[in-house]
Amino acid sequence: MTTLMNIAIDGPAGAGKSTVAKLLAEKLMFVYIDTGAMYRALTWKALQEKVDVNNEHLLNKLLQQTDIQLVNQSGEHHVKINNSDVTEDIRTTLVSNNVSYVAKHSLIRAEMVSKQQKLAEQGGTVMDGRDIGTAVLPKADVKIFLTASVDERAKRRHEEQLSKDIPSDYLQLREEIAKRDQLDTERKVAPLKKAVDAIEIDSTSMTISEVVDHIYTIVAERTGAVE
Ligand code: DC
Repeated sequence: MTTLMNIAIDGPAGAGKSTVAKLLAEKLMFVYIDTGAMYRALTWKALQEKVDVNNEHLLNKLLQQTDIQLVNQSGEHHVKINNSDVTEDIRTTLVSNNVSYVAKHSLIRAEMVSKQQKLAEQGGTVMDGRDIGTAVLPKADVKIFLTASVDERAKRRHEEQLSKDIPSDYLQLREEIAKRDQLDTERKVAPLKKAVDAIEIDSTSMTISEVVDHIYTIVAERTGAVE
């Protein structure tokens, strides 16, 4: 359909951004870029190295020594740190509960944003995160702000965990998601916020494929492509 568009998908934790972004990228034959995974990777490394997530200077030093790579291999998305695969390790509750502290530092964000902008230089990406439409790709061709109620987001995470046989406590998940929302929206640098030109989609009562189709139609309309 298009070759050089960049599509930004922002929104709170658990709104379905990554699932939607991956499927949309596949449908458009674009590259999917998970920016949250980059913050998670640094958080995982900091926890491993016992670097205080509130110490911006030490975290930045660690980031300079850490090679974070997003690798797309035959339809699978892997995250690597200094060539080791950490795809699963960065999804633990410990990482989830610490990542917002890492992501609040301006030095860290500046470095991550610059890496993300390089990845999107050639276009043809679907990038998901919190500040893509506002800070990383302010000129993105299509900006989506994907939301869902806290209850629905907690319910989805809960069901996802159970389907993977991971013990899960709905009320605790709900509390963690609400806490992360608060940290992400109230931080000083690049808080989670809908870009003025973003299209908001509330996915509370939509299926994943309805959301993907909806965004696909928006993209088609923007490019003037006839389906
Ligand atoms: O999308 P996610 O849940 O994997 O993101 C993990 C954390 O990283 C999230 O709490 C906020 C932060 N993040 C961010 O600040 N900016 C981004 N572009 C992506 C994620």
